[in-house]
Amino acid sequence: YRNVRVALLGAGSVGSQVARLLLEHGDELAGRATAGLELVGIAVRDLDAKRDADLPRELFTTDAHSLILGADIVVELIGGLEPARTLVLEALGSGADVITGNKALLANHGPELFAAAEQVGAQLYYEAAVAGAIPIIRPLRESLAGDRVKRVMGIVNGTTNFILDRMDTLGESLEDALATATELGYAEADPTADIEGYDAAQKATILASLAFHTTVPLVAVHREGITQVTREQVVAARKAGYVVKLLAICERLVDTDGTDGVSARVHPALVPLGHPLAAVHGAKNAVFVEAEAAGDLMFYGAGAGGVETASAVLGDLVSAARRHVIGGPGLAESTHANLRVLPMGSVTTSY
Ligand code: HSE
Repeated sequence: YRNVRVALLGAGSVGSQVARLLLEHGDELAGRATAGLELVGIAVRDLDAKRDADLPRELFTTDAHSLILGADIVVELIGGLEPARTLVLEALGSGADVITGNKALLANHGPELFAAAEQVGAQLYYEAAVAGAIPIIRPLRESLAGDRVKRVMGIVNGTTNFILDRMDTLGESLEDALATATELGYAEADPTADIEGYDAAQKATILASLAFHTTVPLVAVHREGITQVTREQVVAARKAGYVVKLLAICERLVDTDGTDGVSARVHPALVPLGHPLAAVHGAKNAVFVEAEAAGDLMFYGAGAGGVETASAVLGDLVSAARRHVIGGPGLAESTHANLRVLPMGSVTTSY
């Protein structure tokens, strides 16, 4: 294989798992990418910080700029707006494809980054930016590109779903449930971003823009968090046949003047107990898509977590590496795994 040089920016909970999995499963991923995936370095702010994975020390550097210059693909997992924005622009400017899991960056500077990528023919991948491990970016951008999406409803913040679920099933207070969510590592560094709906609003911007093939700016997203939701309301809702969920709702609507428009909003909503979204418990995420031709679809899974989100990043990396060596959209359709197809009878069919 031809080698592609991969630079990683950031070694937090997601970044360190991306590096670990890449080092452990590099050969297998290379088979799918039909390209060697060479991790050329990991740029961090503090060389001595504690990491979630045991990684070779010689990979680390504090010089992100030099690392970017020597890379074909740059993976940005620093989070936040700066220096992430500057570094991503630098990488795109050098012609590298960029993979990011940074929802804040996309929600605030998406158009600028997409324009920078287009200018040099580079590609920006961001499957990890919304709902962690759940594949939702590609389905909206590619699989459903021939359909017309009517509505997207997402439980896209694990922390608030965890809190509302605990209030509902255990009668816990918001404060106690938030403390547990923080301990388990679901919450943002500043949990205000979770409970006030900022995190979900960023994701709504990204989902709405993709679903409706337009740019929905963050300022256009109505946002209301869960801090006003009381235990009494949650209990009363259940008695009436509903569960309270913080939803990101993106809709195609007909405006009063008869023209089509897009609306995106985040707020606590009453979900009927029979709706698939009502069955999303704990910190799990789910995105419910209503499309004209396809009908209803639901995407469910882990919306946060280092190793889970690393899965989405590595999927993007396989696509990007493949695109780098053979061009095209970079779909990983290779059959190089050499796995045996098991004869019937040797597998158990129950679960
Ligand atoms: N704080 C976020 C959540 C992490 O709770 O879902 C993933 O974006």
